[in-house]
Amino acid sequence: MARPLFILNGPNLNLLGTREPEIYGSATLADIEAACAEHAKMLGLAIDFRQTNHEGVLIDAVQEAGREGSALILNPAGFGHTSVALHDALKAITIPAIEIHLSQPAAREAFRHHSFVSSAVSGTISGFGARSYILGIEAAHALIASAPAPQRTA
Ligand code: DQA
Repeated sequence: MARPLFILNGPNLNLLGTREPEIYGSATLADIEAACAEHAKMLGLAIDFRQTNHEGVLIDAVQEAGREGSALILNPAGFGHTSVALHDALKAITIPAIEIHLSQPAAREAFRHHSFVSSAVSGTISGFGARSYILGIEAAHALIASAPAPQRTA
């Protein structure tokens, strides 16, 4: 079985659709998951799409992605601005990892300008609304394609 592309979502993203729609848009997380599954399928990728409000659960999922996944797309939400532990978890995995945001944190409040995630991932896509996820899948696909083949063990 091909390894899935993990798409992990942090706190409060379960509220998309009703949460500050002027910032985050009107698509629900289920809408985004369906769009991701469709786009990934077109590229021949399976996805494992999850959301949690709990930091430890998110860190467990990052570790799982590192063991079982082909690449990771992470919208860390608020934990991106607060979590050294999330940074450490990302540093510990070797699959390609991409940070995404619906909004453009750099254009918002000062406390959103720092990300503990950015320095531990291959790149960041932000500000494109739900399309950030699709662009993230494109980036992941490119990184998977250019990643060295896994070493065979005799
Ligand atoms: C977010 C941006 C973060 O600053 C915020 O805490 C979120 C959502 C985004 O997708 O735009 O919860 O990650």
